[in-house]
Amino acid sequence: MNIIEIIEKKRDGKTLSKADFEFIIKQYCSQQFPDYQMAALLMAIYLKGLNFEETVWLTDAMLNSGEKIDLSAVNGIKVDKHSTGGVGDKVSLILGPMVAAAGVPVPMISGRGLGHSGGTLDKLESIPGFKTNLTPREFIQELSEIGISFIGQTQTIVPADKKIYALRDSIATVNSIPLVTASIMSKKIAEGTNALVLDVKVGTGAFFKTETEAIELAQNLIAVGKQYHLPTIALLTAMDQPLGLAVGNWLETREALDALRGEGPADLMEITYTLGALMLLSGKRVQTIAEGIKECQRAIKSKMAYNKFLQVVQWQCGDMHVIEHPETYPQSRYALTIKSLHEGYLQKIDAVMIGRISMKLGAGRMRKEDEIDYSAGILLRKKEGEYIQQGEVLAVAYSNQKEKLIAAKNELNAAYKIGPEAPLPAKRILKIIDENSVQDWNYDISNLINFSYKNSSY
Ligand code: URA
Repeated sequence: MNIIEIIEKKRDGKTLSKADFEFIIKQYCSQQFPDYQMAALLMAIYLKGLNFEETVWLTDAMLNSGEKIDLSAVNGIKVDKHSTGGVGDKVSLILGPMVAAAGVPVPMISGRGLGHSGGTLDKLESIPGFKTNLTPREFIQELSEIGISFIGQTQTIVPADKKIYALRDSIATVNSIPLVTASIMSKKIAEGTNALVLDVKVGTGAFFKTETEAIELAQNLIAVGKQYHLPTIALLTAMDQPLGLAVGNWLETREALDALRGEGPADLMEITYTLGALMLLSGKRVQTIAEGIKECQRAIKSKMAYNKFLQVVQWQCGDMHVIEHPETYPQSRYALTIKSLHEGYLQKIDAVMIGRISMKLGAGRMRKEDEIDYSAGILLRKKEGEYIQQGEVLAVAYSNQKEKLIAAKNELNAAYKIGPEAPLPAKRILKIIDENSVQDWNYDISNLINFSYKNSSY
């Protein structure tokens, strides 16, 4: 068996064997073949796909590239959440501490920015000193002591995903159902969680643009979870405009801090509270969604969630001063204000364009070795549906490189569509998917939570 034969096999649309996947992952992780051959194989998989059995074998090989963490020493039902990737998606930073504060332990292995989407690890690492490469022992210790830990893939925990994830980001093979499935599920099974709630994003700013694709992804993830006896459910949520107001690592961390203090924007909080309620249900901490929402709300209002976040930052060596005084964080050297050229309703903010522009401003990587500019990004001042006067500020873009801001100006204007008709109010949470069913989400939480959060004056 050699890698060229395996690439040829997949290129020609043939099925790979369990042994092929074990060979690929073992050899790639021990640098027996170069990135360009792995890139060729990933592209062949992207184009020809994997059947379900192959997807499980790939997941298994990736999982076995490192150690599987045993969380049995940590009390309680451990529940994690994972998002398939969106723009402005800082939900984990709020959700993790909120659910932990409400009494369900949250072990969380996250990823970095991928394509136009941001990653939880990059957001956390925008906090000076914050360490995400904990050892499994430290991960278990933090989880036992404070009920939550955020880590990334390391040399010992799913190292295969660490390498493949970074490579996929630079070779346009992110939006592949089997590759996303193996990437997410290998991490989640390795971390030893007892249950998993997925936020499967759909829309222009998601990797999967149609409901059909997003449902297929959700069902694939749930089916792989079942193979490993990991109860998994998924919410399908809209990702057509950025979530919240901030896009970019530190800007999003700062917005998450606001949300933890009870001042999160409505769209962000609706998704965070709903996912939180599902996590509390999965952790058997509550019996109903309504009860779950109330518990999550209580964790935010009482500042328990905020204090839990402070504990995490302290545990993981982050700079506490900057968290308690976010206004002291070093600002980007340059800012560009985008004003509306027209009067009318803000009909559309193109999430994928905003994500790509933010990446080009320095918030993401074009190549896997690129350094991140943590303060770069975009702050939205308006959201879809608002009425805009000509000359009103739509957004402010930040970067430490002036030429990047200049280059972004026209693209930013093009990301906005303003017209005479008000857009129809869009649903944010579309479906709930489990092993047996795909159901419309008709749970209106507006009567359960107070949506008096500030909406556009970050
Ligand atoms: N999140 C992951 O962890 N992996 C992917 O491939 C996509 C989103």
